[in-house]
Amino acid sequence: MQKTSLLLSAFLLAALVGSLLSTSSCKHDPLVTGIDPVDTTGTNNPNDPVDTSGWPCSPDSVYFAYQILPILVSNCAMEGCHSAASHKEGVNLTSYAKVLSTGEVKAGQLKGDFWESITSNKPDKRMPPPPASPLSQEQIDLIRTWILQGAKDLTCNPGYGGCSTEAMSFSADIQPILKSSCTGCHGGTNPQGGIELVTYSGVVQMAQNGKLLGSVKKETGYIAMPPAGNGLTGCSIDRLQAWIDQGMLNN
Ligand code: HEC
Repeated sequence: MQKTSLLLSAFLLAALVGSLLSTSSCKHDPLVTGIDPVDTTGTNNPNDPVDTSGWPCSPDSVYFAYQILPILVSNCAMEGCHSAASHKEGVNLTSYAKVLSTGEVKAGQLKGDFWESITSNKPDKRMPPPPASPLSQEQIDLIRTWILQGAKDLTCNPGYGGCSTEAMSFSADIQPILKSSCTGCHGGTNPQGGIELVTYSGVVQMAQNGKLLGSVKKETGYIAMPPAGNGLTGCSIDRLQAWIDQGMLNN
């Protein structure tokens, strides 16, 4: 009994100290589970070495921080839309807490404004609105599964057991990272900042001038990318770096 309360107070103390210190050092810290919902916004420090502990992500579960938030940030949270600064119609889609607080996501139910607008084929209702492209079927399917699984903020470590960086392929490894977190803003007819990250040549240009890694690693002198949400995982950053080091093959 005493042991339990001792453990408990040690835990509380650790949690308190942790929250007083900067949030950046405990990115993959498994202590955060069991508390649901957890707002993990801004806790990713891309310069931390990839943590391979904790537990793996299950292919059967959808993880908000790694799979859903990047879609929302990349397709909805740009300036003038649902970013922290602009939040049109009061809707700010830059963190789990904020997405849930819209009251439009109905856990377990495919209804409500959120679901209806991303799946609508009426141009005046659809989100994101034209001229932006609608979400892809793959992205909608992921959001459907997330909602049906209870719209939770589950925790896992995408770098669990190690991060494979060997023989990176542009189409199989690099494009999926950019597609999930960047091309909603850096694609289409009017890419943000004039930077296009859909084609090989667009990506190579940003890799060669150092901005691709500088921005995702949030290094000084670069604009941190993506501009909201958790940032890329350490493993994704290592894979981008590896692709560059391996000669930026167009494979
Ligand atoms: C919500 C929209 C949005 C998302 C998502 C986004 N960007 Fe950006 N990005 C911008 C805007 C806007 C600018 C131009 C900012 C400026 O010039 O002030 C920019 C600028 C950049 C720059 C130039 C940075 C510099 O220091 O000059 C790079 C490189 C970049 N983005 C890469 C990325 C990558 C890689 C991702 C995905 C991991 C990403 N962006 C995700 C909106 C976005």
